[in-house]
Amino acid sequence: MQAVVLVGGEGTRLRPLTLETPKPMVPVMNVPFLERTLVRLKEAGIDDVILPAGYLPEAITSWFGDGSRLGLKIRYVIEETPLGTAGALKNIQQYITGPFFVLNGDVLTSLDLRAMRANHEAKGGLASLHLIRVEDPSAFGCVVHDASGRITAFVEKPKREDAPTDEVNAGTYLLEAEVLDAIPAGRPVSIERETFPQLIAAGKALYAYTTADYWVDLGRPEAYLAAHRDIFIGTMPLGLQPGANGPGAKGVPSSAIIPPVFVGRNVRVAPDAKIGPYTVLGDGCEVGSGAVVADSLLWDGVVVEAGASLDWAIVASRARIGAGAVVGRGSVIGHGAIIAPNAAVGEDARIPTTR
Ligand code: GTP
Repeated sequence: MQAVVLVGGEGTRLRPLTLETPKPMVPVMNVPFLERTLVRLKEAGIDDVILPAGYLPEAITSWFGDGSRLGLKIRYVIEETPLGTAGALKNIQQYITGPFFVLNGDVLTSLDLRAMRANHEAKGGLASLHLIRVEDPSAFGCVVHDASGRITAFVEKPKREDAPTDEVNAGTYLLEAEVLDAIPAGRPVSIERETFPQLIAAGKALYAYTTADYWVDLGRPEAYLAAHRDIFIGTMPLGLQPGANGPGAKGVPSSAIIPPVFVGRNVRVAPDAKIGPYTVLGDGCEVGSGAVVADSLLWDGVVVEAGASLDWAIVASRARIGAGAVVGRGSVIGHGAIIAPNAAVGEDARIPTTR
């Protein structure tokens, strides 16, 4: 079977993290998120993968190459201008040979793709859409269906009180190849807003596949941070142990660790620093004497100088937090940014990438 992973979005809501790193390459526990998705596909018996890309595509192509490292055949189709979630599929129609999965490139989920496929084959519709239940559907696309699972309506981002259901589009689809015939070529088209509603209006059978799996859209900084906490506590199962995880965990002085943490390679941490809880250090990070890094994600090569503190922050590669600086909760620091010694970075700050 084939799968298409949509990886062409600009990821504006994750800026400045996505100014140099396309969203699918944003690390989750130090591994590009897309790699986890591709491994899931392989585990589900899917080894023919097409990646429609367009935004910073070299970061993706150079990491995965032809896919052989993961036992996959990967083909890339680069869009000169973004074609939207359905336009991107129309653009790769010539490669599709039968029913195929479509995955949004920014979804972290424990969904069982084999079970979804079995359900699709049993129902026999033109498409199956993975749905999940959320407390507040107002930020999502609601999907209404009858008792048999047949979809009757799509309602994009309703007011909370007007939401017709708590079941929302979770960004994994199994489509029959004919769906591609319904998508116009040569212009941006949204599958959620245009193609699916049009298919319903034309009387086509689309089925809901609702599960209670773990699911998060990593597209916002808060969700990206929260997903790591969920992995640490095991709500999203990625096989972590309690305590200190990661290839560099043994190299960090235990006096500095407040578990759970995940530590990359070649990390240097002063014995009187405090790392954790719920903290990830990327490869080559350095944390100086008396520094405190809690509930935070540090990408590769980040330096936290002596006495600096971070709490619930995300720091992109090669940034430097000066001695004694205080980085406020919810802050996102861009690639190579330099925070001056003793600076106070406010809550929810977005500090741009330094080029
Ligand atoms: P924001 O700018 O923060 O909304 O992020 P985004 O651009 O990634 O958009 P969104 O989260 O809605 O995209 C959902 C998925 O579709 C992501 O995996 C995107 O990479 C992908 N995607 C969105 N637009 C396009 C497009 O025009 N072409 C391709 N190939 N993929 C797209």
